[in-house]
Amino acid sequence: MTDKKATLNIDSENEAISLPTYSGSLGPDVIDVRGLTSKGYFTYDPGFVSTASCESKITFIDGANGVLLHRGYPIDQLAEKSDFLETCYLLLHGELPSLDEYTDFVKIIINHTMVHESIARFFRGFHHDSHPMAMMCGIVGALSAFYHDSLDITDPRHRIISAHRLIAKMPTLAAMCYKHSQGQPFMYPNNNLSYSENFMHMMFGTPCDDPQVNPVLSRAMDKIFLLHADHEQNASTSTVRLAGSSGANPFACIASGIATLWGPAHGGANEAVLKMLEEIGDVSNIDKFVAKAKDKNDPFRLMGFGHRVYKNFDPRAKVMKETCDEVLAELGLEDDPLLKIAKRLETIALEDEYFIEKKLYPNVDFYSGIIMKAIGIPTDMFTVIFATGRTVGWIAHWHEMLGESVKIGRPRQLYTGAKPRDYSPREGRPAAAKEVF
Ligand code: SDX
Repeated sequence: MTDKKATLNIDSENEAISLPTYSGSLGPDVIDVRGLTSKGYFTYDPGFVSTASCESKITFIDGANGVLLHRGYPIDQLAEKSDFLETCYLLLHGELPSLDEYTDFVKIIINHTMVHESIARFFRGFHHDSHPMAMMCGIVGALSAFYHDSLDITDPRHRIISAHRLIAKMPTLAAMCYKHSQGQPFMYPNNNLSYSENFMHMMFGTPCDDPQVNPVLSRAMDKIFLLHADHEQNASTSTVRLAGSSGANPFACIASGIATLWGPAHGGANEAVLKMLEEIGDVSNIDKFVAKAKDKNDPFRLMGFGHRVYKNFDPRAKVMKETCDEVLAELGLEDDPLLKIAKRLETIALEDEYFIEKKLYPNVDFYSGIIMKAIGIPTDMFTVIFATGRTVGWIAHWHEMLGESVKIGRPRQLYTGAKPRDYSPREGRPAAAKEVF
């Protein structure tokens, strides 16, 4: 609470409405508008552009300055000095672990990577060309059918067991989606490998040979998971919080986050970036596509550019660009044509008045797709990788929300539909003017 008050004067009201304001440790003050309902008003904010839906201690973004903090630690420091599982511990528990705590946490996660054998049978119901995100939505939701011992969401021990299971099993399930699409046998996790080495092994290994994981590529994979771990109240995290506020079990909540992330405006953008670069095809075509992106009458947008919060460089994109250069150098792909188009597109866009005026910079999705394609991950698996990294963020917010007194999320609306009218008999009723659905 601050001693600052917001005073709302409404023409038709005799008295001004006084609203409390609160200051966080960082970021803008907020105005508590809960008192408006008793005065007969709702706030109106489609897309929640100016709405703080909750209080949180997990992640902070300073969009104007391109800053991203996880429990106060800058993302570039974590990407350089930490690893994905240590960042998972930080997001879940609020502090970096001691060496012993880190070792124990890694052991717990590594020992939860297997999935129930029955899960393999679920995949047989999907055609081999099913989109992996469709499979992930179904399979992760179905995990609720297997873990009856940890569904009391009011018990912190159940919540943390579910967190460990989800963080551990997402790479296994992601790799199973890929193997199913390739018609190859599922690979069991190998507990002698690190989290990201294990993922690469389950993705590209076969029962016919011993694990062979390129350390540069597994380190790049670990950074991709780390850079996608959490991002405040983005669309998918807000969905998980809303689902969790009804008391739904953690696996169903995470499945709702996966479904939301799939959209091309959100986590589906990395897949859309690759498709856009392939559609551009050559640097000589870039100007035509930039013109389309600027044309108000053309729905085309430059995928991988722009962000609701960042009005500066997405700090994750900077790290992703460095990782991209490392991976392509390791694989001898420095002359990758898509990378050439991406780098030229970035230069042109950053010098273009439209993008400068609208503060549209490359976001996390702009380079991640190029790295994943170079590693050999098919485009339709890109958002599955994003979901695998983001699961810890979703579950950390779910856990944080349930640790406080939870009110079910239930937004209101501005209703502009028909006013009360009486039913008319069907005989003789005129044809309805059909709204375009
Ligand atoms: C992610 O929220 C998160 O934190 C998300 C995320 C996470 O980690 O969880 O960071 C992950 O989702 C990154 C964003 C990935 N999406 C894309 O790259 C898709 C392309 N980008 C856009 O669709 C768009 O920039 C959004 C959806 C990301 C943000 O849109 P906003 O904040 O709703 O902004 P807007 O649509 O109101 O755009 C503002 C203006 C508009 O022009 P005007 O109507 O003011 O004239 O900028 C224009 C838009 O037309 N614009 C673009 C553009 N993005 C916005 N014009 C061309 N190309 C673009 N990419």
